[in-house]
Amino acid sequence: AGSGKFFVGGNWKCNGTKDSISKLVSDLNSATLESDVDVVVAPPFVYIDQVNNSLSARIEIAAQNSWTGKGGAFTGEISVEQLKDIGCKWVILGHSERRHVIGEDDQFIGKKAAYALSEGLGVIACIGELLEEREAGKTFDVCFKQMNAYAGKFGHTVSPSPPVDAVPSWDKIVIAYEPVWAIGTGKVATPEQAQEVHVALRDWLSKNVSAEVASKTRIIYGGSVNGGNCAELAKQEDIDGFLVGGASLKGPEFATIINSVT
Ligand code: G3P
Repeated sequence: AGSGKFFVGGNWKCNGTKDSISKLVSDLNSATLESDVDVVVAPPFVYIDQVNNSLSARIEIAAQNSWTGKGGAFTGEISVEQLKDIGCKWVILGHSERRHVIGEDDQFIGKKAAYALSEGLGVIACIGELLEEREAGKTFDVCFKQMNAYAGKFGHTVSPSPPVDAVPSWDKIVIAYEPVWAIGTGKVATPEQAQEVHVALRDWLSKNVSAEVASKTRIIYGGSVNGGNCAELAKQEDIDGFLVGGASLKGPEFATIINSVT
């Protein structure tokens, strides 16, 4: 873990029922959580209100997606304003499942991120390479291209320079590096593999945004993090927290991950 406050997010994805979520919330409410860690959970949209009404205020709520602008005639979408109205403080954007299963592209994701930030939501901005991209030695290229799309929409000087929507502060941006081959596969990146990419991302931020943003922005790791491997990962200098999928559905294990900060 680096100098910023450790950040652990639980991405519940498209899982749960009213009953299972009520059990998970009560487990989280009774867990002892290290105080110096920001903790966020992202329930499916339809359960956000239930979670907001029952979960301890110690844990903040994230949505798993948001729309690119104000609400209106956009069937099936949820606006940032609606998310704020029901108590969300964060939104996860650019998750690999939205990129590779649903087909969202860099520009669309960047636009959503810029809009969410402009409305005051925190953004957990996900990036990460596919296995074939890693094997072809393209991990950094892919991650930097995804970073470029976010930063471009945030109004930073990247090339080619897309239209500037807003220049938000980076305080509310958390970068989640999630190598796609490690997501839901049980094949976690080694601490060295994760650290290598996190350092490269910090370097990218320093060159393309600023040295201050590079040192302050939390870069968290996601991909098969569990109660058994979190401590080794958390020791790495540039791993500032985790975005957890499967293991965040189990309250006690999620608490272990939160408490792994060293
Ligand atoms: O967003 C978290 C995620 O994609 C990792 O999922 O199940 O491998 O922890 P999982």
